[in-house]
Amino acid sequence: MLSQYWPLAGLAVRTPQLELRFPTEADLVALAELAAGGVHDPVRMPFLTPWTVGGTPAEIARRVLQYQWRCWGTWTPEAWALNLVTVVDGVVVGSQGLSARDFGALREVETGSWLGLSHQGRGVGTRMRAAIVHLAFAGLGAEYVTSSAFTDNPASQSVSRKVGYAEDGIARTLRGSEPAVLHRYRLSRSGWETERRDDIEIVGLPECRPLFGLT
Ligand SMILES: CC(C)(COP(=O)(O)OP(=O)(O)OC[C@H]1O[C@@H](n2cnc3c(N)ncnc32)[C@H](O)[C@@H]1OP(=O)(O)O)[C@@H](O)C(=O)NCCC(=O)NCCS
Repeated sequence: MLSQYWPLAGLAVRTPQLELRFPTEADLVALAELAAGGVHDPVRMPFLTPWTVGGTPAEIARRVLQYQWRCWGTWTPEAWALNLVTVVDGVVVGSQGLSARDFGALREVETGSWLGLSHQGRGVGTRMRAAIVHLAFAGLGAEYVTSSAFTDNPASQSVSRKVGYAEDGIARTLRGSEPAVLHRYRLSRSGWETERRDDIEIVGLPECRPLFGLT
């Protein structure tokens, strides 16, 4: 069994409306095809690494696969990036990520996510963020969860606010060759506790704890 040596393969977060799970090979193919079909309006790049533009749909799909494999291949307890697929009614609709450096000591994680274009604007982004935040606080014992989005990405910022993150300043960065402003958001453990839910189930986490830098 893969999960005997790679316990992340058995990790899942289940809510009444959706499941976040470590992708199977079939999930990865579905995710790659979803990305190839479009993730955002090409005139507004929401990502720091512009992986959604340039190349044919097949090349974008392959880029998704290679990114996922790279995250698996370079995973260490000191620096990891967990990318779960979001599944609604049995269909892969997007990706919900959680990443950290030195999590065992810092207890801070960053979220990142995307949905296929046809799945956006229906509340899925908010629900999947709430699910990954639950994994971070209830499952991993995080103290803080952070997120950031460019000024022209109101949907992502709205999701952060709806899930309870507070504004945490800005960062200026290059988007391509142009300066752009990232709005940072931060959710503390105490902030999350006030909204804590009891209808989210985490599956397969104990076996993964050492991989997250937890003893
Ligand atoms: C960001 C993303 C994951 C959000 O998921 P989603 O399912 O579309 O979001 P939701 O439907 O849960 O909520 C979006 C919120 O943004 C709001 N919103 C969307 N466009 C908006 C706009 N132009 N101005 C103001 N608010 C806007 C919606 O009204 C909604 O808030 P409400 O429920 O209070 O009305 C998704 O849109 C996406 O994948 N975008 C492309 C990739 C991306 O930007 N990823 C994040 C990188 S930081």
